[in-house]
Amino acid sequence: MQTRNLTSTLNVSAIGLGCMGMSEFYGPRNDEASLKVLDKALDLGIRFFDTADMYGPWHNEELLGKFIASRKADVRLATKFGIVRRPGEYRRSINNAPDYARQSCEASLKRLGVDHIDLYYVHRVDTGVPIEETMQGLAALVKEGKIGHIGLCEVSAATLRRAHAVHPVSAVQTEYSLWSREAESSVLPLCRELGIGFVAYSPLGRGFLTGRFQHGSMPADSDFRRTLPRFQPENLAQKRSLVDVIAALAAQQQCQPSQIALAWLLAQGDNIVPIPGTCNPLHLEENVDALRVRLAVPELEALRQAVSAIPVAGERYTPEGMKGVNA
Ligand SMILES: NC(=O)c1ccc[n+]([C@@H]2O[C@H](COP(=O)([O-])OP(=O)(O)OC[C@H]3O[C@@H](n4cnc5c(N)ncnc54)[C@H](OP(=O)(O)O)[C@@H]3O)[C@@H](O)[C@H]2O)c1
Repeated sequence: MQTRNLTSTLNVSAIGLGCMGMSEFYGPRNDEASLKVLDKALDLGIRFFDTADMYGPWHNEELLGKFIASRKADVRLATKFGIVRRPGEYRRSINNAPDYARQSCEASLKRLGVDHIDLYYVHRVDTGVPIEETMQGLAALVKEGKIGHIGLCEVSAATLRRAHAVHPVSAVQTEYSLWSREAESSVLPLCRELGIGFVAYSPLGRGFLTGRFQHGSMPADSDFRRTLPRFQPENLAQKRSLVDVIAALAAQQQCQPSQIALAWLLAQGDNIVPIPGTCNPLHLEENVDALRVRLAVPELEALRQAVSAIPVAGERYTPEGMKGVNA
């Protein structure tokens, strides 16, 4: 497995595993099957696992805790705090207060069954708490050894700069893929300037870029994606030509569309680490194998040009989900 440095002190496998879908959002959970996928990820060389307290809520960290205990695995664990929600409800509030960060961190350590979290993210920025105060609270957790590195999710460039002035930010985690390239305008350049790693979440466009929703098929009615503006049938229909472009290049390269989506991300900078999510062992293998796919500069440029010409209709989230995005 190739590795990448998010920062000089945080080396991770070049592809991580997003564990969110093992608990909710994309269909019913199956812990036994998920534990097998986690095992397989480890066997394939993945050493970077992504979770959050609000996935489940809490179920996802508990599941990872079971996995870590059973395999005594030496992995880099990333989790997040700051989105407060109750089981069964999507409605949330955002809380970045330092005492809440501490309380959340201690609860996550317990659920994960570890005494150290390698990368601890602010899941969404709380505009009611100055980022400087949040960073000071997190810096104290670093000093005590409870967390190794600090990350921020979906943060604006202005807030990122202020946060980094208080304590080094090691990683930004934001949605980034062939159909979500907003981070390229200011956040990615700032990450490069400040030496901050970039973790690309939903790198497969929540599955859309793999072609699985290509021929009129849609996620199940109960699936979270059905609520997203971007996944509304009229918006999806407009974007299917984007997947045709990816599929054509995949055919040329004798690989899968999912692998083109991941190879494109990996080629955007050596500080970028995608964390595709899957509950399917075959998809997991395919995603890891994307590391073998090398796109030449003209292919990368042609791909960018082709996808840029296709408008992406529909926001990434509902207004509720947009709370704290780009804040
Ligand atoms: N910081 C944040 O706010 C935030 C928000 C969202 C997600 N995340 C993190 O990012 C991780 C990844 O994002 P994501 O899960 O939303 O989206 P994603 O990785 O873009 O897509 C996941 C979807 O694609 C499918 N899939 C995966 N590999 C495939 C393949 N090779 N072929 C066909 N289908 C494939 C999965 O289904 P199968 O299970 O059937 O493979 C699942 O439905 C999450 O698990 C979570 O850890 C963070």
